[in-house]
Amino acid sequence: MNMNSLKNLARRELVDLKQCIHGGEIWEISQKYKVNVEEIIDFSANINPLGPSPKSLEAIKSNLENIKFYPDSNSKDLRIAIAKHFKTIKPSNIIVGNGSTELIYTFTCVFINKGDEAIIPIPTFGEYEVAVKEAGGRPVYVELNQEFNISPSNLLSRVNHKTKVIFLCNPNNPTGNLMSKRDVLEIVEMASRRDVLVFIDEAFMDFIPNEEKFSLISEVRKYWNLFILRSFTKFFGLAGLRIGYGIACEEMIDLLLKAKIPWNVNYLAQVAAKAALSDINYIEETRKLIARERDFLCRKLKQIPGLKVYPSHANFILVDLRNTGLTSLQLKRKLLKYGILIRDCSSFRGLDEYYVRIAIRTREENEKLIRIIRKVLEGALCSRN
Ligand SMILES: Cc1ncc(COP(=O)(O)O)c(C=O)c1O
Repeated sequence: MNMNSLKNLARRELVDLKQCIHGGEIWEISQKYKVNVEEIIDFSANINPLGPSPKSLEAIKSNLENIKFYPDSNSKDLRIAIAKHFKTIKPSNIIVGNGSTELIYTFTCVFINKGDEAIIPIPTFGEYEVAVKEAGGRPVYVELNQEFNISPSNLLSRVNHKTKVIFLCNPNNPTGNLMSKRDVLEIVEMASRRDVLVFIDEAFMDFIPNEEKFSLISEVRKYWNLFILRSFTKFFGLAGLRIGYGIACEEMIDLLLKAKIPWNVNYLAQVAAKAALSDINYIEETRKLIARERDFLCRKLKQIPGLKVYPSHANFILVDLRNTGLTSLQLKRKLLKYGILIRDCSSFRGLDEYYVRIAIRTREENEKLIRIIRKVLEGALCSRN
């Protein structure tokens, strides 16, 4: 048997993962440039600069001995804690995944059949597109307007008899735009009448101080067609443990639970996530820090000639570089020499090679970033003149 016949045996055509570049390529960068990960300031991955909650770290340490047991396959304790955290849902409305990414794939695996269409506004997180294609579906891209806003009527005009799912990311990665609850509800309501599911990725919603005004979590028991994705990666800084969750009506959760693999979430991730939700001080401190530093970073970036800075509601900022004469890859490479890693956004469908995304970090780190960007751009200007 040769390679080609092996490909023929595969159940479906698999998407070449080289097409999808993620933020958080810190291990690869550290190997390539022979620097320690601690020496790199990662502005590419949008993770809480405070790191995990001290309560999560404590829970991991005090539960190390328990890794000799299998984890609870259905993350029961954590689901109870999540339900308590949001108050308006029950544990039976929740599924926990090995990172929220696992749940994007579980969802498409359950609901997307060959030939189904999925509406994806662009630019957005790339994993929806890959998951839809891998399930045999066809992504239908809807371009956002110049300010990267979604018009519900424009989106809904693309629904046809093949449409199975509409994907929304709120706040959106990489633009930082936040849709109003009214607009999202309009989409969910109309979609439900046309038998279309709505997948809302709220991975960055925890950063919004009054999140209940924007999140649709309180609506899942009312709408059969609504699925909400959340993550412990970004706000709670547990990226390396891989843990996220989905919220939907009980019927949808039942289907997804049947489709997931057993013991999908490791024990330490479950206890760390549960402890994180109980750390009210850390939650408040993180929100305050991000709001303050986002204002600071936006203001400072806007003062740098040639940068167009987009307003953001999340813990990252999208910047258009085209007036500096540098491409995103060129700026990324130049900053790496100073140990700074930013996200080159040229791999986002719908963006060209002039956009970068910068995560919000601590004041000291943000100041360093501003200093180095100024230096690098002045150097680039001198060499052009
Ligand atoms: C919008 C969005 N959703 C989901 C994810 C996946 O996060 P995780 O699988 O770490 O929970 C990411 C990661 O970058 C993201 O940006």
